[in-house]
Amino acid sequence: MNLVLYGAPGSGKGTQANMLRDHFGIPHIATGDMLRAEIQAGTPLGQKAQPILAAGHYVSDDIMIGMIRNRLRRPDCEPGFIMDGFPRTVPQAEALDLLMGELEKRFDRVIYLKVDVDELLHRLSGRLVCPTCQRTYPPATAACAADGSELVQREDDKPEAVKPRIEIYLEKTVPVLDHYRGGGLVSEIDGRGTIDEISLQILTAVNGSATPTRRTA
Ligand code: AP5
Ligand code: MG
Repeated sequence: MNLVLYGAPGSGKGTQANMLRDHFGIPHIATGDMLRAEIQAGTPLGQKAQPILAAGHYVSDDIMIGMIRNRLRRPDCEPGFIMDGFPRTVPQAEALDLLMGELEKRFDRVIYLKVDVDELLHRLSGRLVCPTCQRTYPPATAACAADGSELVQREDDKPEAVKPRIEIYLEKTVPVLDHYRGGGLVSEIDGRGTIDEISLQILTAVNGSATPTRRTA
């Protein structure tokens, strides 16, 4: 099962990817999380990426495509994967098509989480993140449910970065959807319901019929 989660900043990609990872037992490949891990580790890539993320801009296509080429070749991707935050530009989508061909894989579905801008701004202004495992939580959540870490605000959720993130999404990432619509791969999900309601809609789109029960193994 190879899936792309597509949507604006704050649309719920990370939230729903956690559910899909638990449900299908396949890795969640989140380019934003990968970049934040590089920043936390202080690597040369992290040092280069830090001011770009803080300003709400995009890291270059070359860097991002190289990162995904390495990640998709790892053996844990063999049974499938959930892509979150990539592709984000048309050149990234074209490079991913080539890579999927080389790997003899294809996407089963592109899930588009459609949320209006007012709701995105509301969600991002209050979002909390676990600095250890990167799970995201709504405002006023006390601690990470998975590892107990104290939650923090993401640097790019500060008001000065949120507006450029949404603007660059509208300019560079919206055209990516058209890239996939032609292949009939896109399922558009109304992102306004509760997290569980949206999970159910996603599983229905992916499976035809399914319940959002968690894997136990
Ligand atoms: P990335 O980390 O991918 O950020 P993003 O796309 O801006 O998306 P977010 O993670 O902010 O939102 P989300 O959709 O995951 O929402 P979430 O589930 O957290 O990228 C960060 C940066 O890295 C980019 O700006 C760029 O600089 C760089 N980058 C990454 N990939 C790149 C690439 N390919 N090319 C170039 N640069 C790249 O939910 C948000 C909040 O809403 C949470 O609090 C959640 O609890 C809440 N919520 C979720 N669902 C609901 C619901 N149904 N109802 C109410 N609240 C909800
Ligand atoms: Mg996310």
